[in-house]
Amino acid sequence: MKLICIENYAEMSVVTGKIIVDKIRTTQSLTLGFATGSTPKGVYNYLIEDHRANGTSYQQVKSVNLDEYIGLKAQDPNSYHYFMRQNLFDHLDIKQNHTHIPNGAAGDLEQECLRYEQLIKALGGVDLQLLGIGQNGHIGFNEPGTPFSSRTQIVTLARNTREANSRFFNSLEDVPTHAITMGIASILESKEILLLVSGEKKAEALLKFMNGEISEEFPASALKHHQNVTVIADRDALKYI
Ligand code: GLP
Repeated sequence: MKLICIENYAEMSVVTGKIIVDKIRTTQSLTLGFATGSTPKGVYNYLIEDHRANGTSYQQVKSVNLDEYIGLKAQDPNSYHYFMRQNLFDHLDIKQNHTHIPNGAAGDLEQECLRYEQLIKALGGVDLQLLGIGQNGHIGFNEPGTPFSSRTQIVTLARNTREANSRFFNSLEDVPTHAITMGIASILESKEILLLVSGEKKAEALLKFMNGEISEEFPASALKHHQNVTVIADRDALKYI
């Protein structure tokens, strides 16, 4: 595992953005794994700026996202479909039918999990996966206790995850209780992983990740089984390291 220590969020976004752009420019056809939440927003801004300024093209890029809330339609402003359109896809030349996000409004959710898992396989797997981390160590929406062998699945969100994400909703009650997420085994199949950790709120999670043991009680620790993980963390997140 490689650790890149960075001064602040802005710098973290640039460093990560450059790694992604470099990959796009040097790889013929690429599948990127995208994440949501506040952490990757700066990276997405970098990609948008770079696309405008340098014309980096996403015509050959395919993408899969980690997760989606159950019960929110793609048009819902709190859905991750909406988030990705607003914060990235609408500003690039990526083809809409090349972008994939689990459908949290599917009639048959079990079937949707299978479909998504097969889709990732059909795309040849994820080449570069961007990850954030929850304060409780979740990756995607895989909460503590999730088996490392898990595949794309329906999960019940932990109360602290719903509380952390309630800042985007009118109230805690409005935050969905369930989500579809790529499983931990699905995430670990990505060829390369970038884990972004920013801010003091994540300092404890980063400490646990770096120094704690590998345990299903701390989902991100599964990444230690992976051969090509780069942690990109800023000074506030590195407070206890
Ligand atoms: C959400 C997402 C995760 C994300 C995490 C951290 O619950 N499902 O993929 O990594 O929250 O979010 P943030 O970056 O806003 O701290």
